[in-house]
Amino acid sequence: MLSDDIQVRLHGVTRIYPAVEGGKAVHALGPLDLELREGEFFSVVGPSGCGKSTLLDVVAGLASPSSGSVTFEGRPVAGEVPDGIGVVFQEDASFPWLSSYDNAAFALRRAGLPEAEIRERVEHTLSFMGLLPFADAYPAQLSGGMRQRVCIARTLVTRPRLLLLDEPFGALDQQTRLLMGDELLALWRETGATVLLITHSLDEAALLSDRVGVMSARPGVFIDRVETGWARERDSRIVAEPAFGRVSGRIWEGLRDQSIKALESAR
Ligand SMILES: Nc1ncnc2c1ncn2[C@@H]1O[C@H](COP(=O)(O)OP(=O)(O)OP(=O)(O)O)[C@@H](O)[C@H]1O
Ligand SMILES: [Mg+2]
Repeated sequence: MLSDDIQVRLHGVTRIYPAVEGGKAVHALGPLDLELREGEFFSVVGPSGCGKSTLLDVVAGLASPSSGSVTFEGRPVAGEVPDGIGVVFQEDASFPWLSSYDNAAFALRRAGLPEAEIRERVEHTLSFMGLLPFADAYPAQLSGGMRQRVCIARTLVTRPRLLLLDEPFGALDQQTRLLMGDELLALWRETGATVLLITHSLDEAALLSDRVGVMSARPGVFIDRVETGWARERDSRIVAEPAFGRVSGRIWEGLRDQSIKALESAR
């Protein structure tokens, strides 16, 4: 593989949260290496508290590694979110005082884009996310899943080349989740963006991804990386195929031990 196929490169990355008020420092992550190929769909699964959100913060430039290096498109990531990276956070980050439309337009207005272009991008994105009929609604008037779609729309309008998603469908029921996954796949195909998805759902990871990184209990390191081998044109019907059982079985194999460890150390 040519080295310029690699969009994101983490080398020897650790993250240690310093001790506060006489407590202990928390070694949250690593040391770990990760290379994301341009345009691939990579998911991360791992026990709660193992450092997944920390990993996302480090890739996004929102937290600096305690050691090691992070590059995006060959340039070091440090201090701020680089142009070309879009983040959807684990918690609902929509602005309650703005309509869906204005939430989606927020970053583009701040970047000073002409209003006509903002309108075109926002309407396209809201329509894609099934939110156009709710363009004038405020977050409090939407369901949890719709609010989450507003958050995704806010990020998509910036046309990121790397999309970082932290458990974006956590508030949804299983069947809606599967359908949102299909929409995410369609979006991934349409935009050609690289996707780094953090998810608590093993099936979601197995279904959506080109590769799945399985993380250990804290401090999180990758204990397995599973190539799914799915075609680019895929959707949630994969769950009925025998290959799906093999992929999710392999992910669970690594995860089971780690989840038991994480639970035991918390007791
Ligand atoms: N700002 C912080 N200061 C100190 N410790 C932190 C901070 N943020 C996270 N941690 C600790 O780092 C570890 C990893 O946290 P992180 O949020 O990355 O886990 P996670 O894998 O995303 O968990 P979950 O699946 O529950 O979202 C946890 O033990 C947490 O307590
Ligand atoms: Mg998290």
